[in-house]
Amino acid sequence: MTSTDVREDRAAGLVFPPGFAFGAATAAYQIEGAVDVDGRGPSIWDTFSHTPGKTHLGHTGDVACEHYVRYPQDVALMKDLGLDAYRFSVSWSRILPEGTGRIEQRGVDFYRRLVDELLEAGIDPWLTLYHWDLPQALQDKGGWTDRDTAYRFAEYAGVLYDALGDRVPHWSTLNEPMCSSLLGHMAGQHAPGHTDPVEASRAVHHLLLGHGLAIQTLRDKGADHLGITLNFTPMKAATDSAADLDAARRLDGQQNRMFLVPIVTGEYPADVAEDLTAAGAPLPIEDGDLEIISTPVDWLGVNYYFQSTVRAVSEPTGKQTAFIGGELVADLEPEGPTTTMGWGINPEAFTELLTWISGVAPGLPMFITENGSAWPDQVSADGQVHDPERVDYLLRHLAAMTEAIEAGADVRGYFAWSLLDNYEWARGYDQRFGIVHVDYDTQVRTPKDSARTYADVIRAAKDGV
Ligand code: FCB
Repeated sequence: MTSTDVREDRAAGLVFPPGFAFGAATAAYQIEGAVDVDGRGPSIWDTFSHTPGKTHLGHTGDVACEHYVRYPQDVALMKDLGLDAYRFSVSWSRILPEGTGRIEQRGVDFYRRLVDELLEAGIDPWLTLYHWDLPQALQDKGGWTDRDTAYRFAEYAGVLYDALGDRVPHWSTLNEPMCSSLLGHMAGQHAPGHTDPVEASRAVHHLLLGHGLAIQTLRDKGADHLGITLNFTPMKAATDSAADLDAARRLDGQQNRMFLVPIVTGEYPADVAEDLTAAGAPLPIEDGDLEIISTPVDWLGVNYYFQSTVRAVSEPTGKQTAFIGGELVADLEPEGPTTTMGWGINPEAFTELLTWISGVAPGLPMFITENGSAWPDQVSADGQVHDPERVDYLLRHLAAMTEAIEAGADVRGYFAWSLLDNYEWARGYDQRFGIVHVDYDTQVRTPKDSARTYADVIRAAKDGV
């Protein structure tokens, strides 16, 4: 058997439900570049990435993958791979350069061109309103720590729906509010780069409130396939000791349950709210907020990369943690091989996670909106990019997902992270997550072996139906 046969064999062995959607995902600031073109206002990621010391080698998204002008080529690539769907995000400050009020038509027109190109290619557009790039003008007024930002977010959702609602069927409010709130305001690793527990807890609540308000606005305007994307990191306790189990409970609370549970049930998990209050950073809940936050959604986006193992420590680790009151919890080094991000590889935890979510949110269809891995890819002498580790990661995670589906999880689609190598936030261009390689000097795109494997999977799934 040649390696191509092995690849096709493994791809063909996976069984998906009828109508399952196969896609790839990106985000505006990570690929578009063109940050000062067509009236775009600055976002917090422009400010953060241009602040010395905040990102790997000072990398910024100024140029990125030049997707703003190269989008026709990128859509053609997606078509070649046989993708059904493309998940992308809109840069809020292209549409509303000051975050509110004045609409920049040239920004709207870019997304209209992109969406038309996708539709023409037979690819279903999945639009995310917010993938972390808050207009700087709103940050100057307090950003997500300010309750008013939630209302500005709903305003933006309405403006965009008026412009694109006729051609975009799937809408998502937020990507990973855990990262925008806790990585941005507690760990300081992401924009706006703050390390304040009170700010972090305010950002958590206002992001969720903004989500609920935006869902209401979109629903009122007639949208009917609405969701949100959350990132889940299963937390395992290092031992069965009461202290380690409690450490895992705390982190699982803030990482996973704090976002999913209020959306589904209209209440924050009591233990999480108590932890935050005990840390002097109570959630700033006002009457009626939880009703808004739990406005029904049609689907849940699940992003999964790896699992963490944690233990309790008696002295603060000195590391700026992403978790409020998490100073006495330490992360263990992952066992086994790690990706270049330093993340472990745990497909079994993916199966368990999907089963767990099904129990917490029964009846809510799931889409895997991100899953993928970073490796030190290079173009080989044969002009190809051989990425066996990513091929393996992809196939093992698809298999883990289908196992959960067989066990009853209602998962209806999968989006690989990412279509292209791109600007990996604070890690800059050092981390390559694409199934398509990007040469940042020439902007040449080269589909990697993993892209071909994914295309095989998609083809085999369609043939089997
Ligand atoms: C997720 C982000 C995405 C990308 C991947 C690797 O947390 O949503 O933009 O950075 O991680």
